Amino acid sequence: MRLTELAHDYLAQQLKPGDRAIDATAGNGHDSAYMAQLVGPEGHVLAIDIQHAAINATRARLEADGCLAQSELRVADHASALQALCPKCTNSLSVITFNLGYLPGSDKRIQTEPDSTLDALHASSQLLQSGGLLLVTAYRGHPGGLSEADRVADWMQQIQSRGWSVESHEPVVSSTRVPPILWVARKTSTPDA
Ligand SMILES: C[S@@+](CC[C@H](N)C(=O)[O-])C[C@H]1O[C@@H](n2cnc3c(N)ncnc32)[C@H](O)[C@@H]1O
Repeated sequence: MRLTELAHDYLAQQLKPGDRAIDATAGNGHDSAYMAQLVGPEGHVLAIDIQHAAINATRARLEADGCLAQSELRVADHASALQALCPKCTNSLSVITFNLGYLPGSDKRIQTEPDSTLDALHASSQLLQSGGLLLVTAYRGHPGGLSEADRVADWMQQIQSRGWSVESHEPVVSSTRVPPILWVARKTSTPDA
């Protein structure tokens, strides 16, 4: 099973009609649309991306899938956007997803960066409700991808030591290429990371 399918399995188990969720790297909108369908018209999905092209693609995907009404789109850096939601939306989100890297078929220089990603993850840890799920997929084969994933791995260890439940999944690959990795972190009622 591909990591994207595994991530969608976790989303399907977690999200219920009326839930609130955030896609912190909307890209072409596949995750945003999947989440918007799961939360339904009573729910809300905020899709964030730093590129207009990604937000336009996400809007088209949401429209095609009939779930634009319960969605909000924002062109922004995810760290700033998520920090701006604190403290008003603290402890209110059911899911926050990150799919790190660059927009497929686009300028590869516009990619997630470790400092901003870490700030966005920290804000996410405050925004999630108890029992809420943080999904982070990192692609480690492109320049900068491995060092960003190492920073995320360290951060995941920190929240685990604070009581979060953290799992990681990596496909077995036969070549020497470094496979992508999916972290699945669940917030407990202990203090935020
Ligand atoms: C791998 S793609 C996401 C794919 C997406 N999940 C999908 O379903 O198509 C990564 C996205 O992160 C975006 N991105 C890069 N830096 C960002 C930042 N600081 N804040 C928000 N989005 C960012 C890129 O523009 C790109 O669209």
